[in-house]
Amino acid sequence: MNLILLGPPGAGKGTQAQRLERSRGLVQLSTGDMLRALVKSGSPLGQKADAIMKAGQLVSDEIMIEMISDRIVQPDCANGFILDGFPRTVVQAEALDRMLADKGLKLDHVIEMVVDDAALTERITGRFTCASCGTGYHDTFKRPAKDGVCDVCGSTQFTRRADDNAETVGKRLDAYHRQTAPILPYYEGRGVLKRVDGMAEIDEVTRQIEAIIAH
Ligand code: AP5
Ligand code: MG
Repeated sequence: MNLILLGPPGAGKGTQAQRLERSRGLVQLSTGDMLRALVKSGSPLGQKADAIMKAGQLVSDEIMIEMISDRIVQPDCANGFILDGFPRTVVQAEALDRMLADKGLKLDHVIEMVVDDAALTERITGRFTCASCGTGYHDTFKRPAKDGVCDVCGSTQFTRRADDNAETVGKRLDAYHRQTAPILPYYEGRGVLKRVDGMAEIDEVTRQIEAIIAH
């Protein structure tokens, strides 16, 4: 099964994708995570991506399309994948259709996580991640069971993203409304778009997604 999780910064795409990885054996393909790994590598392309991400803008379609096209043919994707953060422009959505057709793959569900912009800054500025296994947490909404210790791997090291400050969040939200939201009618017109209430509690959002993919 191949899915897209769509929604603005902080909608909960990564949180729900990690859950689906565990419950369904699907692979989370987060273009944001891939770009952050590239930034960490220190390569010239990584340095370029770093500046764009810190400015809250989108990396070029060409780079992102190539990144995903190479990734979805890897053996670990054979069971299915969850696209988290891609496509993010109509050009990327059209390219995805072409690459899926070329590779004999199909999209089963496109799920929009509907949220209020007002809640997103709080969600994003309170977010932190286990530095060892990548599990996501939140200062208020999802604390580890034992403070300072990752529930999944026991690590005591956590990180916060460089673009998770109030100023950059505003720019990322703006980019979402201008460049990514136009994808919604693209999928709606083809009858594959479903919606979940991203403002509900994390477990309830998972239930709504599970109900969609059970069909
Ligand atoms: P990316 O990493 O994709 O960031 P994003 O889209 O801005 O989304 P986030 O990761 O911030 O939010 P999320 O929806 O995953 O929320 P999460 O589950 O963590 O992209 C970063 C940058 O890379 C972009 O700005 C761009 O520059 C570049 N980029 C990436 N892909 C690109 C592409 N295709 N084209 C061009 N450029 C690209 O949840 C947030 C917090 O809220 C967490 O702390 C969580 O615990 C909490 N939370 C989650 N759900 C709930 C809930 N239901 N109730 C309460 N709290 C919740
Ligand atoms: Mg994310």
